[in-house]
Amino acid sequence: MATKDNWSATKYDTNANFVPILGATILGMLDPKPNETILDLGCGDGVLTKDLEKICERVVGVDASPNMIEKSKDLGCKDARVVDGHDLAAWFDNENIEQHIGGKFDAVFSNAALHWMKKNPKDVIAGVKHVLKPGGRFVAEFGGYLNCADVHGALIAALNRRGKDGKAYSPWFFPSDIHYKALLEEQGFEVQTISLNPRPTELPTNVAGWIETFGFTFLAALDTDEERRAMVEEIAEHMKITHQREDGKWFIMYNRCRFIAYKPKAYRRYKEPVILKLMGLSASTPLTPEQMSAAKSKVEEIIANNKVAVFSKSYCPDQSHYAAYCRRAKEAIKAITSEFFVIELDQVDDGAAIQDYLQQKTGQRTVPNIFINQKHVGGCDDLLSLKSSGELQKLLA
Ligand SMILES: C[S@@+](CC[C@H](N)C(=O)[O-])C[C@H]1O[C@@H](n2cnc3c(N)ncnc32)[C@H](O)[C@@H]1O
Repeated sequence: MATKDNWSATKYDTNANFVPILGATILGMLDPKPNETILDLGCGDGVLTKDLEKICERVVGVDASPNMIEKSKDLGCKDARVVDGHDLAAWFDNENIEQHIGGKFDAVFSNAALHWMKKNPKDVIAGVKHVLKPGGRFVAEFGGYLNCADVHGALIAALNRRGKDGKAYSPWFFPSDIHYKALLEEQGFEVQTISLNPRPTELPTNVAGWIETFGFTFLAALDTDEERRAMVEEIAEHMKITHQREDGKWFIMYNRCRFIAYKPKAYRRYKEPVILKLMGLSASTPLTPEQMSAAKSKVEEIIANNKVAVFSKSYCPDQSHYAAYCRRAKEAIKAITSEFFVIELDQVDDGAAIQDYLQQKTGQRTVPNIFINQKHVGGCDDLLSLKSSGELQKLLA
């Protein structure tokens, strides 16, 4: 069943055009680069999405409101889609977005939208992580604790006075910076910065226009237009004492939460010297199905998230030539690119399980076991012959 779209792009333009204009701060924090692919989450009518398009190679805007997406297309946004922020991961996988954009996103940007994604903020954050590249960033501004507290409180109180549970009609989630940081970290993000920023905001019209544009869930609690009008007038009458300046202009106190958080790189980047930390690597010890399944997930994640993945050993107790092959292979790659990931199987607890799974997957038990662009290349000799034919340079370009 189609759900009602309460967002009106016309009202938004009339009563809330300050939202994208004031988005310049968070756009600056995003610091987009021309070669980046960016997802604008909750892109609305596309004003900021268009600004991003002027800078970046590829921008995809998503928003739950068909009305807003239609407006963003009218504005000329090249790739704008109706997607609920809670369903990002499913959308990305089911619609083959990775293929469409040629990888995962370099950054997810969001202005003034996350506080609307109240149903399950954890799902939203997990979805953002899913669509980002390892090392990709999530940069957003949204309503934090005490955002628009006066009008928010007035709407709740007005419904309470009418015998309703006003709080239950609030569509917003206004967390503190401390709480949102914990949510980001819980989902595996590394938070570089997060803060709450009070911002007195001049309204282009008045508080009635603001409520009509943003307070539709509260208005929907009432049965008739007359009741709705009466409630809005009552709130405006009460708020004008404190929120209408001497020149007649209306202000609301916003409190914006701004943050920059990173999806961690999957595994450490190759760097020398390697510190030897030997762990038991006896492949003869039978592995449990759980260990094998964990090893499988880890291997597949490493391969999926890295252009070049090298399963290596820094030291082989009884077959030191394998360690030498690993060293030669890493040096050959390093001569062309520093962008590659190495996992030293003798330095991790699950090295034996990983080696078993690699054997199952590729038929090759020896190390190095190398993947480029998610394809199995083989060992050191295979890599070196690709290098002498000039293929390796092309693959790594
Ligand atoms: C205040 S507007 C901000 C729009 C735009 N980012 C800007 O800066 O002008 C909030 C937007 O969040 C969208 N939104 C609300 N809930 C959403 C959800 N669950 N998933 C995706 N978008 C959502 C709304 O449709 C609306 O376009």
